[in-house]
Amino acid sequence: MKLTLKWISILLGIVLTLMAGGAAFIFVRGIPNYEVNNIEMKVDVTPERVTNGQRIASMLCIQCHAADDGVLTGKLLKDVPKEFGAIYSKNITSHRDKGIGNWTDGQIYYLLRTGLRPNGQYLPPYMPKFPLVADEDLKDIIAWLRSDSPALAASEQEAPESEPSFLTKFLCTVAFKPLPFPEKPILRPDTNDAVVLGKYIVDGQIACFACHSKDFKTMNVLEPTKSEGYCGGGNPLLNMAGAVVPSANITFDETGIGGYTEQQFIDAVKHGKKRDGTMLRYPMIPHSGLSDTEVKGIYAYLQTIPKIKNKVQ
Ligand code: HEC
Ligand code: HEC
Repeated sequence: MKLTLKWISILLGIVLTLMAGGAAFIFVRGIPNYEVNNIEMKVDVTPERVTNGQRIASMLCIQCHAADDGVLTGKLLKDVPKEFGAIYSKNITSHRDKGIGNWTDGQIYYLLRTGLRPNGQYLPPYMPKFPLVADEDLKDIIAWLRSDSPALAASEQEAPESEPSFLTKFLCTVAFKPLPFPEKPILRPDTNDAVVLGKYIVDGQIACFACHSKDFKTMNVLEPTKSEGYCGGGNPLLNMAGAVVPSANITFDETGIGGYTEQQFIDAVKHGKKRDGTMLRYPMIPHSGLSDTEVKGIYAYLQTIPKIKNKVQ
């Protein structure tokens, strides 16, 4: 009996030492590195590409990377939950050292798909990945990053380095992983089919589903419709003051947007206006870069998905 107890205490000692060792390892190593593949790619910076890239980036990148002067030099992201640490976005201007002027098109493309920097460092979920955005849309964003837009003019200004918490480092060791680089081309949808176009925007291009499903913890980025509470709202998002603004239920249930006319829906999505005339709060930004045809496509698509009963307070 005594002997067994002794063995148990020795074993417990070993387990605790290993755990402490593991924790110290995670603390010191930080966010893990992975192998990156070299993607051969040269994007033509045509006016058409830049215009479309800017349009998409205005809805996907700018709110996180723009400093107060509108230049994309990075800033403290006050809407990232405190548990993840003090998180700063980066300078993504054309500056060769401080920005991404020295990166190849392939390196940017690889990062946007997988979340891996050219040095192999993994970017945690506070920098989103774009696994379902069409190849040509991503290339347009890269063309825009290479353009002479004033927001991207080379700037030395730099936000401080992020200080990810132990929790972030731990989760990046056991749970969050880079996304696989797509094996097949991802094509733009047929814009003559409203439902197909709407689905592309909701699941892929703008990823409305990510904010509008139950929780970031249970969303499925590669197969969005498998996310818990797909488009049913209630995701506890934060505004810039760190207060919770739950996302809205955008299924056609009566507790969601069942009563919305197409025009009311356009007013909400493009202009940030609620049915009662009040404005929608951050982080729901007005998606004015979407055309009416695109928003009508979203409206048509949302009518085809399962309704969810969820009255968001
Ligand atoms: C929700 C906020 C958010 C959005 C939206 C966002 N980013 Fe980021 N991005 C970040 C943060 C935060 C980091 C830095 C993460 C870190 O410190 O580890 C980052 C890092 C990067 C980097 C790496 C820069 C470097 O020097 O390592 C690039 C490139 C980048 N983002 C480009 C983009 C582009 C292009 C878009 C739009 C398609 C975009 N980001 C959208 C938050 C965001
Ligand atoms: C960054 C997160 C985020 C993204 C991305 C986002 N939304 Fe929202 N959305 C919200 C939040 C939060 C609210 C609730 C705002 C409020 O209550 O003031 C909201 C509200 C709405 C509403 C208003 C519903 C109502 O009850 O009046 C609609 C409609 C909507 N979003 C549609 C969309 C569509 C379509 C997209 C994609 C094109 C989208 N949202 C992308 C966070 C987001």
